[in-house]
Amino acid sequence: MTPQVHAFFDQATNTISYVVKDPNSASCAVIDSVLDFDYASGRTDTKSADEVIAYVKANELKVEWLLESHVHADHLSAAPYIQEQVGGKIGIGDGITVVQDTFGKVFNEGSAFQRDGSQFDRLFVDGDSLHIGQMRADVMHTPGHTPACLTFVIGDAAFVGDTLFMPDFGTARCDFPGGSSQDLYNSIQKILALPDETRIFVGHDYKAPGRDEFAWETTVGAQKAANVHVGAGCSQEDFVALRDTRDATLAMPRLIIPSLQVNMRAGQMPEPDAEGDVFLKVPVNKL
Ligand SMILES: [Fe+2]
Repeated sequence: MTPQVHAFFDQATNTISYVVKDPNSASCAVIDSVLDFDYASGRTDTKSADEVIAYVKANELKVEWLLESHVHADHLSAAPYIQEQVGGKIGIGDGITVVQDTFGKVFNEGSAFQRDGSQFDRLFVDGDSLHIGQMRADVMHTPGHTPACLTFVIGDAAFVGDTLFMPDFGTARCDFPGGSSQDLYNSIQKILALPDETRIFVGHDYKAPGRDEFAWETTVGAQKAANVHVGAGCSQEDFVALRDTRDATLAMPRLIIPSLQVNMRAGQMPEPDAEGDVFLKVPVNKL
């Protein structure tokens, strides 16, 4: 079974959002949507999400799911906005409770902030499945980048979020709270155990040295053969050494502070104050 996949690339955050359509019906899922956010002005914009909504409407699609591969640290999710416009249930991995607990403390959210994942419509565990029309999607828990990371395997396509990137770029960082390069290696082995011809759709692309175009689609076979971090039978020990060394040199993503506060609430802003104004916090010396 071959789902129809349409990709949307967000230049500002290097994120790829996907509309995945059942070939036999109008049903689709939206994976990893983006709400534009200008940090300097504190302004949100729905331009990226509106492109997805326009595509859904133009093709008369029925959005059944708004899936999050994980709590993103580099962009805000537009899932609630898209849900309001065209429907769909918002789903994420049940590891979200761990992420909510960690960042509930970092942002000193107090008891009003629920840490049970109840902001989402559905929490998935490893081995769960969901339906997009007649098409079944299988959920694989693939932690490492974060504890809540999922891979959605839909027919011959795997949406791997931030686990593997394009073969010439490698893999996702593992240095956020709850991340683990050992876990990421094991998760990647699960993905690489899928059939070689499985199409892999990655969550981000940053180009790689020597590549002129952004890219987001590859295959399990290509990753196994040539991924610069884990290809050619790289051992766990070698991967962990490479990943941890590289992670020690990386700066925090530009939007990590707003992204976490919004995405751990399933894409909702924090509750407004008594005047109805919404604020995000900047924790000093905590990240
Ligand atoms: Fe991420």
